[in-house]
Amino acid sequence: NGEMRQWGGMTTDVVSPVYVQSEDGLKRKVIGSYPVTGETEAMEALDAAVKAYDNGRGEWPTMSVADRIACMERFVGRMLERKQQVVNLLMWEIGKTLGDSVKEFDRTVEYIYDTIGALKDLDRNSSRFRIEQGIIGQIRRSPLGVVLCMGPFNYPLNETYTTLIPAILMGNTILFKPPKHGTLLHYPMLEAFRECFPKGVVNTIYGRGATVVPALMQSGKINVLTLIGSSRVADQLKKMHPKVNRLKAVLGLDAKNAAIILENADLELALKECMLGTLSFNGQRCTAIKIVWVHRSVADQFLKRLAEEVNKLQPGMPWQKTSQITPLPEPQKPAYLTDCIRDAEAKGATVINEGGGTYAESLFFPAVVYPVAEGMKLYREEQFGPVIPVVPFDSIDEPIDYIISSDHGQQVSLFGTDPDQLARLIDPLVNQVSRVNLNAQCQRGPDTFPFTGRKDSAEGTLSVEDALRSFSIRTVVATKD
Ligand code: G3H
Repeated sequence: NGEMRQWGGMTTDVVSPVYVQSEDGLKRKVIGSYPVTGETEAMEALDAAVKAYDNGRGEWPTMSVADRIACMERFVGRMLERKQQVVNLLMWEIGKTLGDSVKEFDRTVEYIYDTIGALKDLDRNSSRFRIEQGIIGQIRRSPLGVVLCMGPFNYPLNETYTTLIPAILMGNTILFKPPKHGTLLHYPMLEAFRECFPKGVVNTIYGRGATVVPALMQSGKINVLTLIGSSRVADQLKKMHPKVNRLKAVLGLDAKNAAIILENADLELALKECMLGTLSFNGQRCTAIKIVWVHRSVADQFLKRLAEEVNKLQPGMPWQKTSQITPLPEPQKPAYLTDCIRDAEAKGATVINEGGGTYAESLFFPAVVYPVAEGMKLYREEQFGPVIPVVPFDSIDEPIDYIISSDHGQQVSLFGTDPDQLARLIDPLVNQVSRVNLNAQCQRGPDTFPFTGRKDSAEGTLSVEDALRSFSIRTVVATKD
């Protein structure tokens, strides 16, 4: 509600995944702390959002689109002033390379400008008057109420703002909980929100999700739940809402995107795209390629080159220009990845490069595991880290059946040089996932493209214009001609 509050003085330390040289060798250090809110405090923040919305009578939900846009434009200005601070925190909190951290910030600014542009178009088109059957109607887009926003650690700024910004722009009021890793970087933005929006429009809660979020959901006062995270958590949260059928959910969830390399593929191109797709930001992207299917006739050749290229990768700290593999922010991740590899080895697979080892607690060198098969953890689980499971196939039906039988349905990358064969495969694939990438890695961008998934991978569609629609409802003001 426009105030900085710290209840009871309780704080949590943030330990960076990044190492610094100290007298006792490489060390990780505490880089900050954040206040821990409990249930009562979270409910106070919720009340602020409910009050600012005031059942649709508040200043924000009744403000003109042009005035809301003006507030947002002011906010982008404040955000740009904080770029250096946010970029540094992206490196220190989640280990993202300097280049990728700058990209995440710039992409977010561009996303906001694109969303403002799309809102102007939407407003122009939807507030047109229509006369039909003697009724004059003005078709509008109106807000939905109080939105609870939660973003992921891998794009703590960009993906959080992907929902937060359109939700604000459409006139909703917000409760926002930063992710567990990538928390501190939201602190500089608090002041910017306070300076640019009326009281209670954006309310940020720090603390453990498991402590504060259930109470918010059980209150029944959340109109829209938006989460970029796991489908398990999304399902649990939705069930907590007393009127779950009235709750709108906008969700970006799990994915196990496959690459399929056909017998006639350009192998060097497939290799380049698979390296990007599997290992950008250490494989910690929801859109990452998380399993590679390769036709048996070219498997040896592809694997040899893949192992060579992976072995060349440079591990290091995020600010070092040469770093390609950086520390993982989730402390338990190296042990989980090691367990997946051991499981595959016990069932007949091998690590075919020099990877799989942990340099230091959080720095894990990528492993290529082959041949991965049904029954191994790496076949179905979303490893979300630098391990590349590779599966050989003889018939294209094998990877397609795998995709059909998967709980996930986000994207696929298909590599081949026969246009007729590619064309025949598009429909069976795009009817299972939400994006088919031809001779290219899986990715979200450009952010103006619809971003969603089938099955357990998403609910609702994000992107610039789709997100504006997701956080609003079409309404009509009508009178007789
Ligand atoms: O982690 C999920 C992001 O939406 C991925 O975005 O494909 O641009 O890395 P990206």
